[in-house]
Amino acid sequence: MPATPERKLDHIRVVLDSPVEHEASTLLEEVVLIHQAVPETDLSSIDTRVGFLGYTLEAPLIVTGMTGGHEAAAKINCAIAEAVAELGLGMGVGSQRAALEHPELAETYRVARRCGGDGFPLIANIGAPQLVKGYGLEEARRAVEMIGADALAVHLNAAQEAFQPEGDTDYRGVLDAVERLAEKLGVPVIVKETGHGIGYEAALALRARGIRFLDVSGAGGTSWVRVEEYRALAKGDPVLAASAATYRSWGIPTAQAVAEARWAAPDACIIASGGIRTGLDAARAIALGADIAGTALPAIRAYAEGGADAVKKLLETMIHELRAALFLTGAGSLGELRTRPIQLGAALAERLRGRGIDPGLYLAAVKGTRPGAGCSPSSTRL
Ligand code: FNR
Repeated sequence: MPATPERKLDHIRVVLDSPVEHEASTLLEEVVLIHQAVPETDLSSIDTRVGFLGYTLEAPLIVTGMTGGHEAAAKINCAIAEAVAELGLGMGVGSQRAALEHPELAETYRVARRCGGDGFPLIANIGAPQLVKGYGLEEARRAVEMIGADALAVHLNAAQEAFQPEGDTDYRGVLDAVERLAEKLGVPVIVKETGHGIGYEAALALRARGIRFLDVSGAGGTSWVRVEEYRALAKGDPVLAASAATYRSWGIPTAQAVAEARWAAPDACIIASGGIRTGLDAARAIALGADIAGTALPAIRAYAEGGADAVKKLLETMIHELRAALFLTGAGSLGELRTRPIQLGAALAERLRGRGIDPGLYLAAVKGTRPGAGCSPSSTRL
């Protein structure tokens, strides 16, 4: 097997077999939605639809990119695609580097459209380090065309690469590269982290380069540093293993990342991911200012436990939990959720204050704005 698919398979084994999540939380529990004993709405008529990439999602939820490149991955992509297509959600595939370098592997990604059809938003995926090592518009186009994607995610994984023996640690030129793609690609470019968070400075810099879609993928869920810690231990590399252990929980908690990114880029489409484990997490992130929530690890673990049915059940559960959050806060729609009172816990408020964001001003700025407002595919430039 070529090196890239083998490493990816290694990663899947680790995330299925070991505790790979951050030890610190997303801080989403500090986004307190206020229970309304008299909700004056009907759970069965709650409207959770939101526009995303030219589609109308039934609920603001996507499964973010994870896999591709080998037989097992094809089955996972197919199961996720079937579930999201049936439920009216969206998904991304994992890094397509393997198929760009070994075209015979393209089918393991293409399977998403084959299994789910054309009616859901599908997101292609390449890594930022590849963009500075020679990938450009042509490879980006090939990745999008390979799977019939509606957008391209460029993933940032500096924290992971720093603790990989084979890590691609040259991040010089990433901003120029994503700016070029945003100008020329023809479908939106989503810049996404992979579990360590996009904060204020990164969001501001990316927005100034014409990036309008940010998946903050903050800390609190899967920690790729932790995944590399296991791999380093298995390979008998004590230096990388001990260093990775120090950085296990490195990053910006998801709730903080959502607020920082929204503050830096008020008109952006912001995807909250990293540790989204329930529909309540998703509701909290959206009330705080995200447009869409994304989840990864639970979907692959569900697949490993119960195949396609379990993936669907997981997503159905999350949708019900989200609807319940709207009902119990007296919100009939996602737009109304943003008008409901919320409180921020002391730790989150203090972190925001420490970053120069006044929590009261922040909440006032977000209040009444419409989730999904910045998520249409058009106008990819400032
Ligand atoms: C990922 N993630 C990821 N992201 C990406 O942009 N390209 C990729 O190839 C992968 N591969 C991948 C594999 C597996 C098995 C997992 C669990 C995750 C990162 C993912 O999209 C997400 O950003 C983080 O995992 C954080 O979300 P969760 O897992 O805490 O919900």
